[in-house]
Amino acid sequence: MIKLWKVAVIEGDGIGPEVISSTVKVINALNETYKLSIELEFLEAGLGAYKKYGTNLPKQSQDKLFGADCVLKGPTTSLEGFGTELGVPVKIRKMFNLYANIRPFKPLPRASSLVNLDALIVRENSEGSYSGLEYRVSDQIALGIRVTTRSAAEKIFKVAFGMAEKRKKKVTLAHKANVLKATDGLYKEVFLNQARQYPEVLAEEAHIDALAHWLILRPESYDVIVAENLYGDIISDEAAALVGGLGLAASANLGDKYAMFEPVHGSAPDIAGKGIANPVAAILSFKMMLEWMGYPEAAHALESAINQTLAEGKKLTPDMGGSGKTEDIGNEVISNLPK
Ligand code: NAD
Ligand code: IPM
Ligand code: MN
Repeated sequence: MIKLWKVAVIEGDGIGPEVISSTVKVINALNETYKLSIELEFLEAGLGAYKKYGTNLPKQSQDKLFGADCVLKGPTTSLEGFGTELGVPVKIRKMFNLYANIRPFKPLPRASSLVNLDALIVRENSEGSYSGLEYRVSDQIALGIRVTTRSAAEKIFKVAFGMAEKRKKKVTLAHKANVLKATDGLYKEVFLNQARQYPEVLAEEAHIDALAHWLILRPESYDVIVAENLYGDIISDEAAALVGGLGLAASANLGDKYAMFEPVHGSAPDIAGKGIANPVAAILSFKMMLEWMGYPEAAHALESAINQTLAEGKKLTPDMGGSGKTEDIGNEVISNLPK
């Protein structure tokens, strides 16, 4: 029997509904052509949900997440201020232990890339500074606890080395063990030990500050970059800028059984409501979902249609120098899908 994939869809805030609407049209088109067995279930989450229900991830939305196989997520606006709820992506990553955040960055046609970068950032997604252990001790002092465990380090390095084996066979650990001697020191120790199990993969370590510099000056020297949560977050946006901007950067948050696919970018309040957000990051995130589900042909067809759309450049969005609309790109991608 063919498996029916239940996909929970979060449209999100700001440009979220704009880029997800284009992505959903692409999904429906692919469902027909490739006879995919995918069913979408929409749920509310984010600032919009918070205003309506007093929480950014209400119970009924959580139930829908548990009833699904994976999530397609548009960006959600974070609540600001100490004591407010964790952001929706952080909550979902914790709920389903989505410990590996996979973020590919590579040249795309007509992207205004600054350098020649083809790298994969593997971001540890479950701990570090994102453990939620933050305290206001007094009016004058705030404390945050940064958690690093051997087991989470071992898991993320296994993913990083495994992916490097299928790519350019190099892994660079980004760390700051020269200062954070306990936490990043443990990371570095586990990394160097684990590297011995992958003799065909070159294991390299670099201080995160220096890596941020070399990423711009020697981009071609990188393959897989593995980093703890916050470093991975920051260098992801740097890498996105280097290959043409956040509008093109996709990601997969992977656990052992569940996964969430979302663009790297946020809700972009500066351009929300104008219909000009680039939907490519969201559509490429769905392409990563197809690969995860085991639909390589449909994933390949979608990637080709995106590349053709960008290469022809008929209706590019303003971030790529065009005057096209979000929905134009989605429609072009659909018309470029092999019939
Ligand atoms: P952002 O990623 O929303 O925007 C940064 C810049 O990139 C803006 O100038 C924006 O216009 C541009 N940009 C982003 N996506 C684009 C697209 N698809 N097409 C064209 N341009 C695009 O970052 P921010 O302004 O720091 O964050 C806004 C809100 O989003 C915050 O509340 C933040 O916490 C949240 N956020 C959510 C997620 C998520 O849900 N996964 C990710 C990042 C940020
Ligand atoms: C991301 C985002 C999130 C993060 C925020 C919105 C909580 O920046 O997915 O990169 O920091 O992980
Ligand atoms: Mn981020």
